[in-house]
Amino acid sequence: MALYDKGSPIIRQVKEGETVYLCRCGKSSNPLGNCDGSHDQAAGEGPLAHTVESGSDGKLYLCGCGKSKRLPWCDGSHQD
Ligand code: FES
Repeated sequence: MALYDKGSPIIRQVKEGETVYLCRCGKSSNPLGNCDGSHDQAAGEGPLAHTVESGSDGKLYLCGCGKSKRLPWCDGSHQD
């Protein structure tokens, strides 16, 4: 199952200071939204490296539908 087959947001718990490598192409089968290397680097589909800032609520709201205009983040477009 590819990441965007879920069709709804992925809410992921993370730790302050943690760096995650987030899928932006939708080909990853990792249920937490991590890049699993399935992307085509030549097509510019590489992951986004994101470090969790201090003071965040410890949650990442990731797109699981592929409609977001702010990938890898959910922007609410799954409701359209
Ligand atoms: S899950 Fe894709 S925009 Fe929300």
